[in-house]
Amino acid sequence: MRNSVSHIELIMGDITKARVDAIVNAANQEMLGGGGVDGAIHKAAGPILLEYCKRCPAVDGIRCPTGEARITPAGSLMAKFVIHTVGPVYGVDPDPEVLLANAYQASLDLAITNGCQSVALPALSCGVYAFPWEKAATIAFATCTRMPFQKLSLTFYLSGPEIMHIWSQALTKIS
Ligand code: APR
Repeated sequence: MRNSVSHIELIMGDITKARVDAIVNAANQEMLGGGGVDGAIHKAAGPILLEYCKRCPAVDGIRCPTGEARITPAGSLMAKFVIHTVGPVYGVDPDPEVLLANAYQASLDLAITNGCQSVALPALSCGVYAFPWEKAATIAFATCTRMPFQKLSLTFYLSGPEIMHIWSQALTKIS
């Protein structure tokens, strides 16, 4: 019997190297690229990814409101799809915990509806958007351990030893 977290793996590394069906991008609402994960994914995917993003309809310049997700092809990445999602800006957006959970939920919903079996995810909002790492991990894992997401193979790519340690502790707490 698999335990409730046996489908979740943590890797310290660059998410653009993931060989999965879908890679989740820590995007912004305009979906025009940026730094961090967003910059790395656009760089690795190639300029075609920005073209795909521009095809997503925008309302007042916003293609993906915070807490929602959009899916595009993955260009040169070793994945079929990129799922662009926007996490909350901690200390700025209201109800950041709800918005962060919504971003993970919306991303995994898109993965399921697009037939993905394996998904690579970053620590959404844990960089520029300044979400506290332990709280973010707890929210991420609470979403990932709900059905039907237990059917997915989920790999979180963490960018350094400090956040890897904090996320590993959080995962141990729920397993
Ligand atoms: N692979 C895995 N993790 C990465 C990578 C990478 N190549 N690059 C950065 N990270 C880590 C960061 O260290 C951080 O822990 O991903 C986490 C998320 O950081 P950000 O990329 O800054 O994402 P976020 O905090 O959600 O802010 C999103 O930043 O780049 C802009 O356009 C983006 O406006 C958006 C904002």
